[in-house]
Amino acid sequence: MKSNSPKPKSEPVVPRHVAIVMDGNGRWATQRGLPRLLGHKEGVEALVRAVRAFAGRGVQILTVYAFSTENWSRPEPEVSGLMSLVPTAMKAHLNPMAAQGVRLRAVGDLSALSPKVRQAFAKMEEATAGNRRVTLNVAFNYGGRWDVAQACKRAMAAGVSPEHLDEHTLGRYMARADTPDPDLLIRTGGECRLSNFLLWQLAYAEMFFTERLWPEFDDDDVQQALAFYASRDRRFGSLPDHHRPAAEPERSSGMQQVAAGYGKPLVARG
Ligand code: FPP
Repeated sequence: MKSNSPKPKSEPVVPRHVAIVMDGNGRWATQRGLPRLLGHKEGVEALVRAVRAFAGRGVQILTVYAFSTENWSRPEPEVSGLMSLVPTAMKAHLNPMAAQGVRLRAVGDLSALSPKVRQAFAKMEEATAGNRRVTLNVAFNYGGRWDVAQACKRAMAAGVSPEHLDEHTLGRYMARADTPDPDLLIRTGGECRLSNFLLWQLAYAEMFFTERLWPEFDDDDVQQALAFYASRDRRFGSLPDHHRPAAEPERSSGMQQVAAGYGKPLVARG
């Protein structure tokens, strides 16, 4: 995904790209006395609804965390259940999603998956390659650290020398480097962490955390997340307008900037 260049002003009110950690499937099922896998199945239904709701509000790209590089450590029946959800979900939802103009793509280390799962992803990519209304990237066997490592490996294999390996160059080797960075991250399920999701690409994303469990995520939650985003003042490391001096004084040292009335010069927030 491309690194966003700093553009502190005139950000669109609707995020172009929303990334989602779909957490809480297991708890949703357990609370109902159901096996955890049914929570994941319900999670697929919530995802289908969310894609429709976000696309209807003008979001162009969604990237969802469906299986992390760490999820292999779950009990084997849950891992194989999540794996078999891929072809099952494709069967049930590929055609309706394709008809809505959804382009489906996988992101992650697919080489470790079974041929059946890989084929399901290949089929969904092929069947929806021409769609442009909204793109749904399904992160599967994905990890942010894996992504950085694979980018380094590919850059080295392409002969990029250490002196040429800057942020811009490495960014071109990240998975899905043709996609702009997410503007908004949503995590359901009450946890406030990234869990190794898109570590490089989320550098300047706004973050919305909600207690809602993913299978319950509905239209109101979509609305709340988008309202939260619209209320943010995105600065990309710059200063808000009211902290900018009318005429920029010559910059010399940090302390002189304090004296020159920069307001809160030690605020290093992005
Ligand atoms: C985290 O909830 C969720 C996952 C590890 C899997 C998410 C997968 C889906 C929503 C299905 C999508 C599948 C496809 C094929 C697109 P959790 O199990 O950690 O929940 P918990 O914290 O309540 O235990």
